[in-house]
Amino acid sequence: MVRVAVLVSGGGTNLQALLDAQKAGDISSGSISLVVSSRPGVYALERAAQNNVPAETLARKKFAAQEEFDQALLKLLEQYRIDVVVLAGFLTILGPEVIQRYPNRILNIHPALIPSFCGKGFYGLKVHEAALARGVKVTGATAHLVNEEADGGPILLQKAVEVAPDDTAETLQRRVMEQAEWSLLPQAVELVCRKEGPLPRREEN
Ligand code: GAR
Repeated sequence: MVRVAVLVSGGGTNLQALLDAQKAGDISSGSISLVVSSRPGVYALERAAQNNVPAETLARKKFAAQEEFDQALLKLLEQYRIDVVVLAGFLTILGPEVIQRYPNRILNIHPALIPSFCGKGFYGLKVHEAALARGVKVTGATAHLVNEEADGGPILLQKAVEVAPDDTAETLQRRVMEQAEWSLLPQAVELVCRKEGPLPRREEN
């Protein structure tokens, strides 16, 4: 079985969608084996506990340098023998060492149709504020593989969502989640787990 870690920073509704999809059998090639939060006390940690998934907190600001954070994260992923990493509203940047250790095995959900409203500074509500400010009539969500460029990795799945004339960033965020993110992310996780399988383990010296 492919062991999946879900990295979160907030409410964890996408984590919940993954847990539900696993229960429903829509994710059958992987099993959610670890939740890592970049913030203590977030509701995503509660969701992990309710589902008996081990959870760890790793705050970027506790580490002096990106490399130290990356080493700590890699150690955790190693300890839990993780094969696939899912960024589900994770607001901390991953350094090159982590990305290179998991080639084609890290995926992210972004709440817009990439290449619109993506890259540095576009996260959470800011993405929807930018879409409303530009006046787009259609937005959506994108599940993509993670490489070293922010939101720049190969696209796996996308789904369009209509913008309503009276939308606020909050109502739009909710509709994009309900109509796109919560179904796209589990599908993308199943795809990657099925395609990549378990990560070849490094030989112990
Ligand atoms: C989701 O909308 C996700 O797409 C977004 O943060 C939210 C997290 O919600 N991610 C990004 O903006 C990444 N650039 P959740 O904690 O309820 O899943």
